[in-house]
Amino acid sequence: MISLLDRFFPARPPHLRDAAARDIPHLAAIHARAFARGWGADEFERLLSERHVRAHVACEGPRRPPSGFILSHVVVPEAEVLTIAVVTDRRRRGLGRALLAHHLARLAAEGVSTSFLEVEEGNAPALSLYRSLGYRESGRRRGYYGAGSTDALMLRRDF
Ligand SMILES: CC(C)(COP(=O)(O)OP(=O)(O)OC[C@H]1O[C@@H](n2cnc3c(N)ncnc32)[C@H](O)[C@@H]1OP(=O)(O)O)[C@@H](O)C(=O)NCCC(=O)NCCS
Repeated sequence: MISLLDRFFPARPPHLRDAAARDIPHLAAIHARAFARGWGADEFERLLSERHVRAHVACEGPRRPPSGFILSHVVVPEAEVLTIAVVTDRRRRGLGRALLAHHLARLAAEGVSTSFLEVEEGNAPALSLYRSLGYRESGRRRGYYGAGSTDALMLRRDF
């Protein structure tokens, strides 16, 4: 629910930056609340130290902890989004869009020309976000998340 404060003081543009080691506990906490199988701090530590991984965070102020983050695995000219998530009570305020747009611009600057990702067909918020930033369906994996589950959609965005 949007609070009275949020109504009178609309969100300022988020502070977008590279993820740093100090963000790891926040990333693990956001991920655990966003997904059924959360990644622990050790997993984020491993990913952030990988040379092929690019990670950005969105903070609601330069000194605030991350409210959202995105990670991609990059082997120029291709990249694959590994995960994106925004804190549950800070969603629908433009953080996810700002984060993804910033991330793609940074990947393009290092020579990436295609971004791939995979999303559960029933994940309407994520699908809508991806489509609004130019991702198009390139394939489908039936029952990918287990027997009787929805399909996984493969999306791609060419820069
Ligand atoms: C997907 C997610 C990152 C979006 O973050 P967000 O900060 O809420 O997104 P934004 O506020 O920037 O919204 C951008 C667009 O996404 C779409 N969107 C976001 N939330 C939506 C919702 N609840 N229903 C429908 N569309 C939605 C809309 O197109 C929206 O644009 P609009 O506000 O102009 O209509 C967030 O919902 C999330 O963390 N989900 C859980 C994790 C997850 O599923 N990640 C994706 C795995 S593939």
